[in-house]
Amino acid sequence: MANKEEVLKNLNRWYINFNYKRELENFRKRHSLDNPIVKRVQLEVTQKCNFNCLMCPRNLVDTSRDMSFEEFKIIVNKLPQSVETIIFHGLGENALHPNFYDMLFYLKEKDYIIEHFSNLSVLKKDALDFIDILYISLDDVDPSSLKKLRGNINPSLTFEKLFLFREETKKRNKPLNISISLSYINYKHLKEIYDFLDKFNIDLVQIQPITNNFPYNSKEFWTFEKFIEKNFEKVDWKRVAEIYLENDYNFNLLIWYPRKYMKGLCVWGFDHVYINKDGDIISCCRKVVRTIKFGNLLEKSFEEIFYSTKYNAFRKAHLEGKKLGFCDYCTQGWPLKYVKKS
Ligand SMILES: C[S@@+](CC[C@H](N)C(=O)[O-])C[C@H]1O[C@@H](n2cnc3c(N)ncnc32)[C@H](O)[C@@H]1O
Ligand code: SF4
Ligand code: SF4
Repeated sequence: MANKEEVLKNLNRWYINFNYKRELENFRKRHSLDNPIVKRVQLEVTQKCNFNCLMCPRNLVDTSRDMSFEEFKIIVNKLPQSVETIIFHGLGENALHPNFYDMLFYLKEKDYIIEHFSNLSVLKKDALDFIDILYISLDDVDPSSLKKLRGNINPSLTFEKLFLFREETKKRNKPLNISISLSYINYKHLKEIYDFLDKFNIDLVQIQPITNNFPYNSKEFWTFEKFIEKNFEKVDWKRVAEIYLENDYNFNLLIWYPRKYMKGLCVWGFDHVYINKDGDIISCCRKVVRTIKFGNLLEKSFEEIFYSTKYNAFRKAHLEGKKLGFCDYCTQGWPLKYVKKS
């Protein structure tokens, strides 16, 4: 059962009739400075990757050091009781970490819900014994465009593994979701992408615009901004929803619409935190390189960092809708709901 009603509602609410003032009011009703409660922790253990995607700022980071298994255990043991979900990926491919499977086992022993994004290149099916919700990043079905977007990808191997992971997730009664980062390059093939995914009986397809994740105001940022501008000109986001609405696909669709000059409406620091491979709690998943660091979990307690003046000021800016230049072009905000597949 597709979630057409929800897609149409969200198209109107978050794109056609987007009302910033109303959404900020809604956001303030749900989040307060008095008692932020962390439910979701994104945990990066390596920034190494075997791909070289066009939109990823990973080539600007020092990848020589990973989080060790010992450090990982210290950090996990410092997380507050309120945390329910570990989003077990970051800037990099966590599955390349030599202790990836030990870490998954450790998290599952502690009864966390585990979400994982993967480029699928090295992930083994055994990981599904621990991962509850798997997202595969597959931006296109056209092999040459895939190579342009996700350098070093082997398209035929990826499609083979997609088939395998669909079978294996079904056996375990777990969902299989696809993440698409959209630009003018893959937008051209969107109908083919939807048609292809329909055959795989995917549970959820999540589409987000490619955002500028390079360090704000750096040389790389302004170079990438030209690509982003082209996307604003060439991608018709109304069509992204309409193609889905005009057809009878069996997957659910969640679209994060692009927004220029984002102000506030960001859940990071309220119910989400991001921990990088050095153990720092940082702003968010969009700005991992040369980011805002709030403190290091190998040196301080979670509470000391989370309730610090610096973190409070960050939350306050988002709650008051103040402009953080840092956040320009970011589509992160209040998460959209989707109807679970029945
Ligand atoms: C940073 S990757 C890390 C996990 C894994 N390496 C992967 O690619 O799935 C997580 C997700 O962010 C997406 N992503 C990377 N750079 C992006 C950008 N500039 N804008 C939007 N999404 C991006 C990727 O396509 C992927 O779906
Ligand atoms: S988006 Fe993922 S797969 Fe691509 S380079 Fe970045 S970390 Fe690697
Ligand atoms: S609005 Fe975007 S860039 Fe800013 S903190 Fe939130 S996720 Fe990060």
